[in-house]
Amino acid sequence: MKFRKCSGLRGEIRVPGDKSISHRSVMLGSLAKGTTEIHHFLQGADCLSTISCFSAMGIPITIQGSTVLVKGKGLFGLHEPGQVMDCGNSGTTTRLISGILAAQSFTSTLTGDASIRKRPMKRIMTPLSQMGARIRSLAGNDCAPLEITGSALCGIHYQSPVASAQVKSAILLAGLYAEGETRVTEPYISRNHSELMLKSFGADIRTEGTTAILRPARELYAQKILVPGDISSAAFFLAAGVMIPGSELLVRNVGINPTRDGILHVLKAMGADLTLINEETHSGEPTADILVRSSSLHGTVIEGAIIPTLIDELPMIAAMACFADGDTIIRDAAELKVKESNRIQVMVQGLSAMGADVEETDDGMIIHGGRPLHGAVIDSRSDHRIAMTFAVTGCGVEGETEIVGADCVNISYPGFYQDLEQLMNG
Ligand code: S3P
Repeated sequence: MKFRKCSGLRGEIRVPGDKSISHRSVMLGSLAKGTTEIHHFLQGADCLSTISCFSAMGIPITIQGSTVLVKGKGLFGLHEPGQVMDCGNSGTTTRLISGILAAQSFTSTLTGDASIRKRPMKRIMTPLSQMGARIRSLAGNDCAPLEITGSALCGIHYQSPVASAQVKSAILLAGLYAEGETRVTEPYISRNHSELMLKSFGADIRTEGTTAILRPARELYAQKILVPGDISSAAFFLAAGVMIPGSELLVRNVGINPTRDGILHVLKAMGADLTLINEETHSGEPTADILVRSSSLHGTVIEGAIIPTLIDELPMIAAMACFADGDTIIRDAAELKVKESNRIQVMVQGLSAMGADVEETDDGMIIHGGRPLHGAVIDSRSDHRIAMTFAVTGCGVEGETEIVGADCVNISYPGFYQDLEQLMNG
């Protein structure tokens, strides 16, 4: 797929549903009694992996356009799957389902693609084992495939060394079945979609500072869920809109949960022209339409508590920082190394190939902005966010940019290239 400099992005766009919320709605819908109706569900490959795992465990799930119906069978209604369950490229599927499987009355095996089979699973194996789970890495390398034999669990108070919603959620989902209270304390608060959704499904859950506290559930109740647009997908257009001269675009119905909205703060701090309109809240998840216009940007420092709130947006933010005057420093973001690719290394290599002045650090990168970029051939490394980041960047620089392995955008944003093209012609 090839991209060239455009004269600005203009028009309106509605991005697909939030990936994190789509996963969780299928999981909780499967464990609830009754039919959960999910609107604006993300039909990306990752969320389809979650659907296929729960279908394999006997949950009837139907997809009607962008609406998904999940006929939940209650907390104890899952069946032993007749096959190894394939989580594809999805860390959220692998880690969150592990928490559920840890408490079932059967043994199951989870695997995934080459990337998933390299991503760290010890971070969930340790706390789940402390709760009483029997969970084993079949290759003995603390990665998937994981064999999980359901066991009686007990609640723990886990002090997580990382701010990770996947770790927190795996423990909370296991906690639904545990004896006694389960607490997870994080260094900084990570996205809280599990907490919000568990509450709306009827679980006894509360938060104190960076600690989520859950008591075991007797029953969860089916819900109607309206999935907001994914701010992590919107991020590509928000960045494009401010960094490409001649742009003005409106991204409709974007989830702006405060545990996810770090990019909005960074855009403001960099001097972006950005306005929120039509703010609403559905099932505890706030949304807004976001208007952006091309802006003259300056560098900023991104560190500490804001990092988990924009972790998936950092590749796009790093590229945008090349279009800003002065330095942008990203630190406390070592988690980027264990995403779908090593996103620190891959971003530094890709931006350098485009002529940027960027340094790799142990836990982030330093971007010396203002140097003009040019087109390059970029390998996505099968990482959807890398492909989208460089596609957008290619629309703002001289020369031709070619994305090799461009199809991986289907993981979180099928239709991304069509939407980008529509805005280029807007
Ligand atoms: C996610 C949590 C984040 C994020 C991922 C989705 C989730 O991962 O990067 O894309 O849905 O819980 P970590 O929990 O590993 O930070």
